[in-house]
Amino acid sequence: MNELSFLGSHGNLISVTVCGVGRTLILLHGFPLDARMWHAQMLSLSETYQVIAPNFRGFRQSTLTDVNYSLADLADDIEQVRTHFAAERPITLCGLSMGGYVAFEYWRRHGRHLEALILAHTKPNSDTDEARAGRQEMANQAIAVGSWKAVAGMLEKLLPESLIQNRTQVVLDVEAMMQGCSPQTVRAAQHAMAARADFVAALPTLALPTLVITGELDAIAPPDATRKWAAVLPNSECVVVPGVAHLSPLEAPAAFNAHIVRFLQNAD
Ligand code: MLT
Repeated sequence: MNELSFLGSHGNLISVTVCGVGRTLILLHGFPLDARMWHAQMLSLSETYQVIAPNFRGFRQSTLTDVNYSLADLADDIEQVRTHFAAERPITLCGLSMGGYVAFEYWRRHGRHLEALILAHTKPNSDTDEARAGRQEMANQAIAVGSWKAVAGMLEKLLPESLIQNRTQVVLDVEAMMQGCSPQTVRAAQHAMAARADFVAALPTLALPTLVITGELDAIAPPDATRKWAAVLPNSECVVVPGVAHLSPLEAPAAFNAHIVRFLQNAD
């Protein structure tokens, strides 16, 4: 597994983890996590695919030169990653939650380079006013009292109570990623997500083979709401992973990976 950085747009360094050879699968992380959340996918899926996990601006070793970026800017960063590693061939993009919001933007801006899409624990709609206010509060809190205090309360939305109580390795790994975010990273990401576009009206035109995944216990991307919007996609299947909350790639990696492999084989 190689971790490397290269110069992206706006003078930012984009750090990525890359592993394997074959068709290209780019994995986009959620908030407030980073590319390490895909460790189990890097290990397993790289036997068949070239798997690339970038870190969004400010996360891990990726730099944050402009705190006012948009999710469209992040989609353009991903296009730079694609041209760097897979200039000649179409890719599959897999985005989880915030990564899914960026995947929708990538589809709108650079969709000609996609052969399939995986939307995990995410949603196509923009924020309500209440959700935007919550993001502003988290952004303010991160600057005022530090990022960990601002994001710590998210843990119980990301993982099931049973895992948190038992302090499993997954909980420790998720906490370590959450603690690695700087206050500026939290603020910039919250502002970008609050301003994100709404893709609900565009769903009937998303004709790519698309796998939609969520967790039975996911409160951020609940199964019923997810099934409903996934059903509008012309060429999709929707999977609900039993017993998991918001992070099936970490909570149930074997099930998550099996769904990806089966979907990509069928999409061939
Ligand atoms: C995530 O997991 O990326 C976040 O929950 C997304 C969000 O805050 O909407």
